Amino acid sequence: MLKRFSISLESNLLKSFDQYIKAQSYNNRSEAIRDLIRKALVKQAWLSDSNVMGVITLVYDHHQHQLQDKVTELQHDHHHQIVSTTHVHMDHHNCLEVIIVRGKAQEVQELADRLIALRGVRDGNLAMSSTGKDLH
Ligand code: NI
Repeated sequence: MLKRFSISLESNLLKSFDQYIKAQSYNNRSEAIRDLIRKALVKQAWLSDSNVMGVITLVYDHHQHQLQDKVTELQHDHHHQIVSTTHVHMDHHNCLEVIIVRGKAQEVQELADRLIALRGVRDGNLAMSSTGKDLH
């Protein structure tokens, strides 16, 4: 059930918001605000003790000494959090590893931080999602 409420904003902030809405191709302000609220609530869930799913992406040079072994070893240490791992050979040197993880937000964050911090990892990201069942 939809409920209505009104928001008061400074005109400059509203102008910027309308530009944002246009750039993001939202149909109207309500749609944009709903999305922003959901994002904020999902983010809050990450920071708490909630269960989340996440996708860790790593780009690294497999010629870097022992790096491949360390990436694999860390995942075995956290096997209960790893759902699946896909390894893509990007070119002669570089590998892309996409790791789907689940667990407590903080644990997932720590695992991602450790993987990304490995010497030789050129790029690393963690995207977390929750089911957001309370958010829809
Ligand atoms: Ni590879």
